[in-house]
Amino acid sequence: MTSDSNAAPAPGPGPSPEHHLPLSGRRIALGITGSIAAYKAADLCSKLRQAGADVEVIMTPAATEFITPLTFKSLTGRDVVVDMFAASEAEAHVEVARRADALVIAPATANCLASLAHGQAPDMVTLTALATAAPVLVAPAMDNQMWEHPATRANVAILRERGVDFVGPTEGRLATGRMGPGRLAEPPDIVAHLRALLGQRDGDLVGRHVVVSAGPTQEPVDPVRFVGNRSTGKMGFAIAEAARDRGAEVTLVAGPVSLPHQPGICRIDVTNVAEMLAALETATSKSDAIIMAAAPADFRPASAADQKIKKEASDQSLQIELVRNPDIIATLPGGGVRVGFAAETHNIERYAVEKLAAKRLDFIVANDVTAEGSGFGTETNQVIIFHGDGRKEVFPLLSKYEVGHLILDRVLAHLHAAN
Ligand code: CTP
Repeated sequence: MTSDSNAAPAPGPGPSPEHHLPLSGRRIALGITGSIAAYKAADLCSKLRQAGADVEVIMTPAATEFITPLTFKSLTGRDVVVDMFAASEAEAHVEVARRADALVIAPATANCLASLAHGQAPDMVTLTALATAAPVLVAPAMDNQMWEHPATRANVAILRERGVDFVGPTEGRLATGRMGPGRLAEPPDIVAHLRALLGQRDGDLVGRHVVVSAGPTQEPVDPVRFVGNRSTGKMGFAIAEAARDRGAEVTLVAGPVSLPHQPGICRIDVTNVAEMLAALETATSKSDAIIMAAAPADFRPASAADQKIKKEASDQSLQIELVRNPDIIATLPGGGVRVGFAAETHNIERYAVEKLAAKRLDFIVANDVTAEGSGFGTETNQVIIFHGDGRKEVFPLLSKYEVGHLILDRVLAHLHAAN
């Protein structure tokens, strides 16, 4: 390693403020139309605010029959636009439409889709849609027969063709008591779609392919048992989300984890190291970066039993021979900018710097997995980044999403340097 890798820790700059919240600084126009699902728009509005967005709400008169403008005024601190014939509001809609970074219509009724498809503007929501150049994300909610009606299908096709994005509807129990497609997508999914949409529009990783690995692997002992570890996959998933939010095409190769699928991310589920290696070989053949956040098992049973091992056959002890697994990142020939992790319990710097060199990494993200707030299953991480050129950056305790952004900031710096 280069000589100054043991220099005194210099505090890292931390992520730039706009990275603290995924929708920070974004102006989102939220259009609400007259569906019983309108009550969920309050939750959506709150989640958008929590994600850092500046939300301006527009409602149709029908929507106000289900939920009052006061709810949204309280949530956003802004007046809600409803009345087409109030002079001040008519001007307001044009302003809302002009300054919006995106228009989200949730819930969107069949009637709303019909108006949107045909350029009609009977209310302030559809009028705003006509007056904006911003991307439009539509979350329909209606009875399944209305959703499946040929007229609605045709309207959806027209809107998709025109570049309108859709999230949902999902299948489930509808207000009528029937089962089928027509439920409003869940607010976290709508927010995630919006993040992906905005990232694709102006993110600094647009046109880049980022591959991330996450989670543990399970190496089979027999059909019901495995050798594994405590990784939950949260760090890798957070990096994948951050890359998606910055417009990257993201492939996430995930070991067995219980984390939900994230919109806008191509997820490949694998079980053991052999599968993870094969998936990553394919994914990194044309990638701009590989970020190896997974915790692949270093060893696997020499052979897996075909049938469940019975304890009677083993008497008082059972010997399982373990053999070394391939080191995935060391085996992968390229992948673009190469980033590894070093999960340590002691001698962090020495081990991290050794791994940086041995695995041919551009930088390595080291953390003490026994430290409070860091390590498996936490929402936060405190990391030190060791660079191939000997630099070392020490960061405070941050959310894993923020750590994801600071890793991507450094990946981007490498990509720019390579161009
Ligand atoms: N890694 C890998 N393939 C393996 C094991 C680890 O690609 N079979 C990667 C991890 O994803 C991580 C880096 O190598 O990016 C370091 O992993 P870590 O578990 O900290 O170290 P190991 O190399 O496994 O060494 P040790 O267990 O001895 O600390």
